[in-house]
Amino acid sequence: MHLLIPAAGSGKRMGATVNKLLLPLLGRPILAWTLEAAARACSIEWIGILCQPPDWPAIEAIVAAVAPAKPVQLLVGGATRQESVYRGVEYLYSLGTVERVLIHDGARCLATPALFDRCSAALQQVDGLIAAIPVKDTIKVTESGPKGIQIQATPERSRLWAAQTPQGFRLPLLWQAHREALAQGWQVTDDAALFEKLGWPVYIVEGEESNLKLTTPLDMLLAAQILQQRLVPAS
Ligand code: C5P
Repeated sequence: MHLLIPAAGSGKRMGATVNKLLLPLLGRPILAWTLEAAARACSIEWIGILCQPPDWPAIEAIVAAVAPAKPVQLLVGGATRQESVYRGVEYLYSLGTVERVLIHDGARCLATPALFDRCSAALQQVDGLIAAIPVKDTIKVTESGPKGIQIQATPERSRLWAAQTPQGFRLPLLWQAHREALAQGWQVTDDAALFEKLGWPVYIVEGEESNLKLTTPLDMLLAAQILQQRLVPAS
């Protein structure tokens, strides 16, 4: 399985001036944890990392330090996550030999190798899937009104899932979806949304509660705690 890791974002919501994936977490950059988990997944045979040119040397150093026993290629990302993925998908499609792809956000550094392998296996049966977990909170749909943010609806919780990555797709379909998005000006925050807009089915693979997307400083604290616990050998 080929894997694309979008890692071309910034550190704005984390309050950082550099790409948040380069921030240290238990002594190594966040992206190193993500890369190591992907590299340890038996089903992953090739990894492409989407990055901004100024981050290139730092990300090369991360790849050298993790030293995965499989090919890792750096690719130039875009101005949005969607554009970064577009570029990765364009590259893989141009090879003409890749049938399926997983996409995993560099910011989800707690995903386990088992989750990658579960998604790879499930992708042999369907054209589109995402890792997701059932929503724990009650979710409100709102609109801004004259007196503040007003609740419009409360969707039935039992039908709600929180989307994670990895997300996996048949590559020619994903490429077609991204081309269509560009033509139509669709802007989405994950790749499954493109399939949904086209009416193509996307299935859910049970994700992991610990598979957080590191977005705020609180996420960093939680991630450090979880990683620390994993490093302690079971007695
Ligand atoms: O900002 P956020 O955490 O939602 O981004 C999700 C993922 O997309 C991150 O791993 C980030 O590095 C990546 N990204 C990207 N190119 C961008 C913006 C975000 O690859 N232009």
